[in-house]
Amino acid sequence: MTRVLVLNGPNLGRLGSREPEVYGSATLADIDAEVQAAASGLGLQVETRQTDSEAELIGWVHEAVDRQEPIVINPAAFTHYSYALRDALAMVASPVVEVHLSNPAAREAFRRESVVAGVVDGTVAGFGPNSYILALHAIARLLQTSAPE
Ligand code: DQA
Repeated sequence: MTRVLVLNGPNLGRLGSREPEVYGSATLADIDAEVQAAASGLGLQVETRQTDSEAELIGWVHEAVDRQEPIVINPAAFTHYSYALRDALAMVASPVVEVHLSNPAAREAFRRESVVAGVVDGTVAGFGPNSYILALHAIARLLQTSAPE
């Protein structure tokens, strides 16, 4: 079974209490449970992780590169300025989908740019926890279309 790494960047461990008017009331554990349920329906195995550290997040991307595994990633604030994360994601040959709970395009000006968007397969943003589920569906489809006949 294909393993998908679901990676979460800084401050996402605080979901539930963090700016609920923007990010909703679901905790990351709640979202992880939804992601696990969706994954089993799609025949995927997921491993969900969260870190506040750029170095740790990049290390996990390297792991996916070495194991040729797909990634769903919410880079949180790193989205907007981490060229190091972008360079790591550029190495991933497997499907990569960027996700956001909120719609950064509809928020402050500094959130309108994603420095990682150019090296991922696509972005799902603005649907709350459902962004992760939609991203997982996209990964499943990308894996189907890239599978040998
Ligand atoms: C976020 C949007 C980012 O701008 C912000 O820094 C986050 C969360 C989202 O999921 O909506 O931490 O990635």
